[in-house]
Amino acid sequence: MGLIHEIDYGTKPSAATKLVTLTIDGERVTVPEGTSVMRAATEAGTQIPKLCATDMLDSFGSCRLCLVEIEGRNGTPASCTTPVADGMVVHTQTGKLAKLRRGVMELYISDHPLDCLTCAANGDCELQDMAGAVGLREVRYGDAVETHTHQAKDNSNPYFQFDPSKCIVCSRCVRACAEVQGTFALTIEGMGFDSKVSPGIAEAMFDSECVSCGACVQACPTATLMETSVIERGQPEHSKITTCAYCGVGCSFKAEMRGEEVVRLVPYKDGKANHGHSCVKGRFAWGYATHRDRITRPMIRAKITDPWREVSWEEAIAHTASEFKRIQAEHGVGSIGGITSSRCTNEETFLVQKLIRAGFGNNNVDTCARVCHSPTGYGLKNTFGTSAGTQDFDSVEQADVILVIGANPTDGHPVFASRMKKRLREGAALIVVDPRRIDLVRTPHVQAQHHLALRPGTNVAIVNALAHTIVSEGLHDEAFIRERCDWEEFAEWAAFILQPENSPETVAELTGVPAAEIRAAARLYASAPNGAIYYGLGVTEHSQGSSTVIAIANLAMATGNIGRPGVGVNPLRGQNNVQGSCDMGSFPHEFPGYRHVSDDTARTIFEHEWGVPLSGDPGLRIPNMLDAAMDGTFLGLYIQGEDIAQSDPDTRHIVGGLTAMQCVVVQDLFLNETSNYAHVFLPGCTFLEKDGTFTNAERRIQRVRRVMAPKNGYADWQITQMLANAMGTPMHYAHPAEIMDEIARTTPTFAGVSFDALERLGSIQWPCNAKAPEGTPVMHVEGFVRGRGRFMISEYVATDEKTGPRFPLLLTTGRILSQYNVGAQTRRTANEAWHEEDLLEIHPHDAETRGVKDGDWIKLASRAGETSLRAKLTDRVAPGVVYTTFHHPVTQANVITTDYSDWATNCPEYKVTAVQVSLSNGPSDWQQAYLAHSRAARQIATAAE
Ligand code: SF4
Ligand code: SF4
Ligand code: SF4
Ligand code: FES
Repeated sequence: MGLIHEIDYGTKPSAATKLVTLTIDGERVTVPEGTSVMRAATEAGTQIPKLCATDMLDSFGSCRLCLVEIEGRNGTPASCTTPVADGMVVHTQTGKLAKLRRGVMELYISDHPLDCLTCAANGDCELQDMAGAVGLREVRYGDAVETHTHQAKDNSNPYFQFDPSKCIVCSRCVRACAEVQGTFALTIEGMGFDSKVSPGIAEAMFDSECVSCGACVQACPTATLMETSVIERGQPEHSKITTCAYCGVGCSFKAEMRGEEVVRLVPYKDGKANHGHSCVKGRFAWGYATHRDRITRPMIRAKITDPWREVSWEEAIAHTASEFKRIQAEHGVGSIGGITSSRCTNEETFLVQKLIRAGFGNNNVDTCARVCHSPTGYGLKNTFGTSAGTQDFDSVEQADVILVIGANPTDGHPVFASRMKKRLREGAALIVVDPRRIDLVRTPHVQAQHHLALRPGTNVAIVNALAHTIVSEGLHDEAFIRERCDWEEFAEWAAFILQPENSPETVAELTGVPAAEIRAAARLYASAPNGAIYYGLGVTEHSQGSSTVIAIANLAMATGNIGRPGVGVNPLRGQNNVQGSCDMGSFPHEFPGYRHVSDDTARTIFEHEWGVPLSGDPGLRIPNMLDAAMDGTFLGLYIQGEDIAQSDPDTRHIVGGLTAMQCVVVQDLFLNETSNYAHVFLPGCTFLEKDGTFTNAERRIQRVRRVMAPKNGYADWQITQMLANAMGTPMHYAHPAEIMDEIARTTPTFAGVSFDALERLGSIQWPCNAKAPEGTPVMHVEGFVRGRGRFMISEYVATDEKTGPRFPLLLTTGRILSQYNVGAQTRRTANEAWHEEDLLEIHPHDAETRGVKDGDWIKLASRAGETSLRAKLTDRVAPGVVYTTFHHPVTQANVITTDYSDWATNCPEYKVTAVQVSLSNGPSDWQQAYLAHSRAARQIATAAE
């Protein structure tokens, strides 16, 4: 076990298909046309010395270390900027080249502190390596020459240090920030000897535009930009490839370790979702895994007002099983259920739903996807035949027009956003449909052609109006529709969409978006050779979430934008494994693979595999479980990795339901808001402590690999297994690979997936079966999964949540880059430096009429409740709209969200709440009571420890 070294080819691969053959140091090498001489040499096994080149970036040609000699050409060209040519004869090692390279290195080293032995990069420094490679033995320039070695360090960023004294001004960091990340935070300031890397005029790194993605740190060949964790802990000595446990992009990382201590996470260049890029969360915010708040021993208590009592695993499991069995004996089979986690692995999620269906004997299983992407499942299954996005992320590189609806990729899905921004810089056009001016609307070198800043709650109306324009102006793709869809259903839908109420002119009044703008956006999307739609929770978390997903699917089908790279309908999934948790049968009406529980064929497969009869009746959804709890018919709940008391809407309703139950079991890393109402706490473990798989937003199944022993003693799947055995449902898996084998045996879309296959292929996008043994990057290529694409009527129905004199503003919610979901992980990292509290964004006009100034405490009230937080004045939101995040429990944003939900799936309407804003003195009564309760709960826990 050692460090995984990835070869740096110096320049990017060429996409050309034509091959050319050249000779390098006497060896014949055949590479695609357009390959650099440097890359061709590396592929042939010859490393040409280099400093300014790296294969993540375009060639730059500034350091002059990679010089070569080419027969028949004058001079010594730089190999990183010289493309190969057929018949070319290259010499990389000659006496002349050696002399030149030593001269270059001598100049670099003469302006470099000679503290290699105590430098944090010792052993992992390209400058050091190159000095060795060129055979530098002395530096002839003495102390008399002026140097940069006295410059002060910038320690403002919590995760990495900038030590300009070690900078060789190779510009790799500047280019990484521009080309890979697309933030353009760094520049080279000054000329000649005075040139230096600068994060802005007289700005510290932390105060600059930098978003701490780490691309510059990774690109830097010296110790100038260096992870604080490496400075503190030393160089890593072994590594494993694993998958980020934050968002649905699913970035691959090398977890670089010393023993069982993580030294750093380095994005993996071979990762198919991220291609070596990362964001601040995955790259740096992993410290929560060893945070002192981790609960590592099980605890139980008879009443939620009792102190927690630490117990052995045996006692905790036996107690839970006996309580669940008692409740079922007294109140019936359906009186208990469970919630799976979109943060846990596929294997763990599969086991929880198996325990519930086979062990509890009912289908009372639901998941946090209920509150985010359940409308995606419903809408895409009904129109296309499968509940998932249609493309891989690479597809965006072929999109000509990108339509982003209700998503904020730069904050929510940052690594994919960087890919998207790159495509936009290359010339693709952008349409943003969002009430808020998200960063993508205008960011360096990217400007949306259209920003349809619609009123929250009017998504269906605006997507219908786009479709109305397309059909009424004859911009639809009739050939595609006739060949791939049901023409009669299209005709029926077209008659509906052409009705005057769907015209941009009518819809303009509802949405606040001018008709001309809607028409122009529709023409742009319809006229694109490749039009791609990306959407997020701003689409799904509405009372008409499913209708909007259907309307989006209609739009893509009508324009023929399905079934090839560069197009498609792409839900950007929030949590790391939300796709996987849905795939694994986390909904009360579906077995793994989205087969209805009433489907006899599917049920027979599982009955045969599990050896027990299964119920064909859909079970309770989360809101129904809580209702039933209030009615006294649902009394036991097993929650794995989900904090419903903070993340689900209408907190009072959740708290009421949980309080009414007799046995609430929370399995999690930390005590959370839900555990305040729990009777059993089973400590869970982090992604670093277990094996398994996650499935990202592009249906890509990737390995999660254990790099340290579980601090709590067991991986989460083992805890579920112990509980199942105690409940009388035998489970004897020795490794998650065996669980995946069972998933493959029972789920046709996973038939070809195994840990061995993942080892071989790196990752697999489902469906993976006999027809597609290596997976399916783009879906619906030959035809739709359901046969013919189905146009469905998506009528706009206004939400019941209305503004009025008492609540005249519309609140919408979202996520910011540095924080994740309810913040349980990110709040326990240095990411707090960027976002210490949730703020309410309010337009200056709305603030002025209420006497609110920037930073004032305000009361935010809705029909459901009220909370207090501080105001941030900004024109990012339109007048009449306010916006907040919900990363901090104290904000209690969900006290004010209503219990309205999607008509098809019950996904809560987080994105539209009628509110009023007024000045306040501080936290509301409810917040204070809630905080007091939380504090008391924590004191009880601390006393137990
Ligand atoms: S961390 Fe990322 S955003 Fe910040 S300067 Fe480096 S590359 Fe740019
Ligand atoms: S900070 Fe590193 S990458 Fe940037 S110019 Fe200096 S040496 Fe090169
Ligand atoms: S983009 Fe998402 S998956 Fe990638 S590093 Fe960031 S949080 Fe992790
Ligand atoms: S590596 Fe080619 S010029 Fe720097």
